[in-house]
Amino acid sequence: MAGFSIAAILVLTILVAKEIEGGAAGSCNIYEGNWIYDPSLPVYNPADCPFLENREFDCQKNGRPDKNYLHYRWQPSACNLPRFDGKEFLERLRGKTLMFVGDSLSLNQWQSLTCMLHTAVPQAPYISNKIGGLSNFTFPDYKVSLLFSRNAYLVDIRSEQIGRVMYIDSVEDSRGLWEQMDMLIFDSWHWWIHTGKDQIWEFIREGNATYKDMNRLVAYEKAMKTWAKWANSVDPKKKNLIFQAVSPDHASKPKTCLGATTPLPGPSPKGSSHPAEAVLERVLRGAKEVYLLDITGLSKLRIDAHPSVYGFGGSKFPDCSHWCLPGVPDVWNQLLYTSLIPN
Ligand SMILES: *[C@@H]1O[C@H](CO)[C@@H](O)[C@H](O)[C@H]1NC(C)=O
Ligand SMILES: *[C@@H]1O[C@H](CO)[C@@H](O)[C@H](O)[C@H]1NC(C)=O
Repeated sequence: MAGFSIAAILVLTILVAKEIEGGAAGSCNIYEGNWIYDPSLPVYNPADCPFLENREFDCQKNGRPDKNYLHYRWQPSACNLPRFDGKEFLERLRGKTLMFVGDSLSLNQWQSLTCMLHTAVPQAPYISNKIGGLSNFTFPDYKVSLLFSRNAYLVDIRSEQIGRVMYIDSVEDSRGLWEQMDMLIFDSWHWWIHTGKDQIWEFIREGNATYKDMNRLVAYEKAMKTWAKWANSVDPKKKNLIFQAVSPDHASKPKTCLGATTPLPGPSPKGSSHPAEAVLERVLRGAKEVYLLDITGLSKLRIDAHPSVYGFGGSKFPDCSHWCLPGVPDVWNQLLYTSLIPN
């Protein structure tokens, strides 16, 4: 493999993966399928990953009494997923940097991946640190860094005299960091609906115009288009760009995640039933080299897999948005691994 760029192989294999999904006879859409009970799961014990930053996701540790939700694997209808081989994945990533950029759903997936890889090579030393909003988990033996950059909106937010201003047409403050990486996995949605004290900006600026607020789906589309414009400026031979699709929550009444202990029956719902997901799909059609990790439909079935009252908020603020670890984000990583696999 020496001499041949891993990035090029990754790009190639993403193209292959896209083709597999393309709908030719006998092809397989890995995002269409069912959840199957599998007692051999989960693949790791979070207690073996002392570096995990956020104990909110360790639902068993937080007292969740039922264990059924830990034992589901994702089974595509038309093919089998390869087993996640962490050691092989690290070999393939050797010398590379991979960064998750986004909100706490991105943190959820990054945290899952670091634990999946560490438990695959428990003897390999690691360095884990966090400086400001940047978390860095590195395997020095493999020269692989897995980073998480907290950035809920992807576009710039700057503190000014009038307050915090979101520059909806700029990613200038972040692109320098992104462009140092070999592979990037983005996500953004959940913060767009925040208002009141959970809203971390006061104004939106577009061109020379400043707005107090905007329809949030419209604002989201503008920001994602800004991001896509940047994505199109990146040389696809040098970088892999992946977008984590909208992670569905189960917070709306009447049927919330509270008390749910089994998945909803499959198969996964087809199409863009989530309004933000529809926006994202539309924007990403204009970003040709971006691979959509299309986890919305399959995750929608996992009403049982959220922290619920076994997160930090307890029964006062049940969490039907994030996912318990081990759990659904492990499958997102298995799908990420699958879509990057050469064959
Ligand atoms: C991540 O940590 C490794 C090991 O300490 C370091 O070599 C690397 O420069 C860090 N990466 C970033 C982007 O800070
Ligand atoms: C925005 O403001 C700058 C500086 O005042 C000005 O030169 C430019 O023409 C303005 N652009 C628009 C679209 O109004």
